Amino acid sequence: MRIAFTRLAAALLATGITAGAGAATLTISCGSNAADAEYCGKFAQEWGRRNGHTVKMYSAPASATDNLALLRQQFAAKSSDIDVILIDVVWPGVIKDHLVDLKPYSQGAEARHFPAIVANNTVDGRLVGMPWYTDAGLLYFRRDLLDKYKLKPPTTWDALAVAAKTVMEGERAAGAKDFQGFVFQAKAYEGLSCDALEWVASFGGGELVDKTGAVTINNPAAARALDTAAGWVGTIAPSGVLNYGEEDTRGVFQTGGALFMRNWPYAWSLAQAADSPIKGKVGIVPLPAGPGGKPAATLGGAQLGVSKYSKNVAAAAALVMYMTGAEVQKKRAIGGSYNPTIVDLYKDPEVLKANPFMGDLLPVFTSAVARPATVTGLKYPEVSRAFWDSAHDVLSRKINGAEAVRRLEGKLKQIKRQAW
Ligand code: GLC
Repeated sequence: MRIAFTRLAAALLATGITAGAGAATLTISCGSNAADAEYCGKFAQEWGRRNGHTVKMYSAPASATDNLALLRQQFAAKSSDIDVILIDVVWPGVIKDHLVDLKPYSQGAEARHFPAIVANNTVDGRLVGMPWYTDAGLLYFRRDLLDKYKLKPPTTWDALAVAAKTVMEGERAAGAKDFQGFVFQAKAYEGLSCDALEWVASFGGGELVDKTGAVTINNPAAARALDTAAGWVGTIAPSGVLNYGEEDTRGVFQTGGALFMRNWPYAWSLAQAADSPIKGKVGIVPLPAGPGGKPAATLGGAQLGVSKYSKNVAAAAALVMYMTGAEVQKKRAIGGSYNPTIVDLYKDPEVLKANPFMGDLLPVFTSAVARPATVTGLKYPEVSRAFWDSAHDVLSRKINGAEAVRRLEGKLKQIKRQAW
């Protein structure tokens, strides 16, 4: 009887029928990309108005690493400032203790989402986040420029470097003095771990730490992958790439300043926007493969969860259910090119029309390489930091790939000794 009552109450809350529940002021952490105010904040605020609540947007730092650091400070202080939390796919094991179990509120809605993401968000039997969007690394290219130079989108890193050099030299000679061949994320932060994992995995160098928790990074293919990427810096990529996050990269590419860009799906809708200088000139293909390897895309994405310290857990959970439901996911896919986590939306003609890559490159998303967050649990941020630091050292020519992976293996084994 009690269970039945709780389920009914949760169902009413989830549908926003909150009569008598009182008006709440909720703060949602949306992310910080250019489309987030429009495709997260606006929808959350509309929901608030319809349901008698006030919803505020928390503007998260642009870097996933800074975002996590701030959140952890807030949790340590048991702060109730943020009610609805954007949870990166690599965070559930790190912040699980500060998140509410959403199962009593979800009414089984998670069954419509990709099972692997639901599993990732289920820690010790608790559903700590509802899947919101999924990400995988993609190669964006300027279709008009490849056509102009009679080149095809590259399928290997070598071909990418050759095409980048050809077009860069041609465009510079024609007057575009700062034109770049390739831009990617190489700042010392989580984004570099994502890019570097793609290089290493696509060279056949494994996944840093394998599914059993064994440290696998110290191998020649991984070393070669990092050395190859170092060869791009200052040749086909600007030296400034060592300080680029996603939005810096997009800034260069979208203003017409580069031939290739590695980025997540969100950059598609912005590149196609009415005021984008490259509208209609962009294509997307899977990232290239290394010698003898096959293409690899890092799995990213976000969930929405409720802070245990929220003063309005029920209303916050209802907002999470609305924001992660099919209506909002569809709008976010069409307008913001955020890949849905609801399986059926990949058959929706409007979603596929706005984002042809979501259909054409579906295998890229379904076979993306996960960072070793589940197996390393609470230690993941340390593991990732060690990885991006090593990659950054190689890219800035402080050490070579072989030395970097040898030292990194030592560091990771040391972290592992404190248990993961
Ligand atoms: C994107 C991904 C996320 C990743 C981050 C790194 O936001 O969705 O998983 O950690 O980029 O910068």
